[in-house]
Amino acid sequence: MTTQLPTSAPYQRTPVPERFARSEWFRHARLGMFIHWGVYSTLGRGEWVRSHEEMSAEDYAPWTHAFNPQSVDFDAWAALAQEAGMEYAVLTAKHHDGYCLFDSQHSTFTSAAMTPKRDFVAEFLEAFRKRGIRVGLYFTLIDWSHPDYPHYGDSFHPERNNPAFAGRTHDFDRYLDLMHAQVEELCTRYGKLDILWFDFSYDDLNGEAWRASELMSMVRRHQPDVIVDNRLEVSASGFGSIVTDTPSSYCGDFVSPEQIVPPEGILAEDGSPVPWESCVTLNNHWAWHHSDREYKSGQTLVRKLVEVVSKGGNLLLNVGPDADGVIPAESAEVLRYLGRWLSANVASIKGAEGSALPKPEWGRWTQRGRHLYAHVLEQPVGPLPLPGVRAEDIESVRLLANGQDLHLASSWVIEAYPDLTFVAFGPEGGDDSFTYALPDADDTVVEITLRS
Ligand code: GLC
Repeated sequence: MTTQLPTSAPYQRTPVPERFARSEWFRHARLGMFIHWGVYSTLGRGEWVRSHEEMSAEDYAPWTHAFNPQSVDFDAWAALAQEAGMEYAVLTAKHHDGYCLFDSQHSTFTSAAMTPKRDFVAEFLEAFRKRGIRVGLYFTLIDWSHPDYPHYGDSFHPERNNPAFAGRTHDFDRYLDLMHAQVEELCTRYGKLDILWFDFSYDDLNGEAWRASELMSMVRRHQPDVIVDNRLEVSASGFGSIVTDTPSSYCGDFVSPEQIVPPEGILAEDGSPVPWESCVTLNNHWAWHHSDREYKSGQTLVRKLVEVVSKGGNLLLNVGPDADGVIPAESAEVLRYLGRWLSANVASIKGAEGSALPKPEWGRWTQRGRHLYAHVLEQPVGPLPLPGVRAEDIESVRLLANGQDLHLASSWVIEAYPDLTFVAFGPEGGDDSFTYALPDADDTVVEITLRS
């Protein structure tokens, strides 16, 4: 049994195998919000500040007490996500610094026990669920605050080069007991979770080094429908056993490429589609950064969303609220820009996937059953060629955003291409050799309804 549209329509890609049934809502949603927020947001130099600056726990401590965002407005975050067309959101419940935004009974290094005296995870979940947005929690496998996590000689720990930590012994199993217990808290005390987003495996710390089988059977016991990323097994750039025909119990439900749109998308070794999600920052930092103004444009977000869907993937766009929980204005602006485009072209993205057609010169294809979407990113001269699409397969053609009917072109300028189908943008009965400015310079979507 497949979990996607039957391949009855022309040009459709092969369906996703049954074992990905859990992620059907995810593959329909296509777009989510990632939120990196925590103590590190008070410094404004990114979430890896302790590691990058080899900052001691003593030097970090004042910031952990200073973090007190009493005015944070989770509903404003959820409203922006909704405006952008995001159907799910993932918050850093715990990042590598070890500070928990939830009321853990296994730690006092939390927003509930320390200055804020609030369970921000509970508040985040409530605000987003209230707007019908699915919810996910990012949880780090790493914890630089824990005495039993490797310090000296580790690849990333803030004290990795500090000889004072050279002789320390660590009971890593005792650390894993805590890590598993905190995952169990999130899986049992915060209602139904839609996504658990683990980060990340590295060096010898992957798979069973995390006691991953035990962890995943506990997660599946408490949250049978939750979908999980692939980082219990691999780093941000790896695929893991999810693409093989012998997937591990902790391979996850989707591949999580980071800061990249996979050039060819991601397929299993047998060529079948694999769910995947590119997570991407809006500037160049995950958490708030006081000087990073290198924001991607709204047009870039539109075109990257189209690109990931044309390759069968999802896009998780990240915001890094500041110390007070305010999402940077630049982030809000480009997300609203994306939302305006998406609201006019939603059928070409939500529930859509790639097409079996080869990528056209002028843009990209997405497809949803009998509806084929030409995402025209480059202005054609004269009518638009539809390489690979037979005229006899076409029932109708229109501009998706406004429903304006279009027609198949006939003109002397295309006489040399009798086997190629062209769409004219001008009025029926007009001169189909004419060039008309694309209605949407970011992406003009032509909906082609195919005969079934
Ligand atoms: C990278 C960053 C980490 C961030 C993650 C999101 O691994 O190091 O801080 O949470 O990307 O995918």
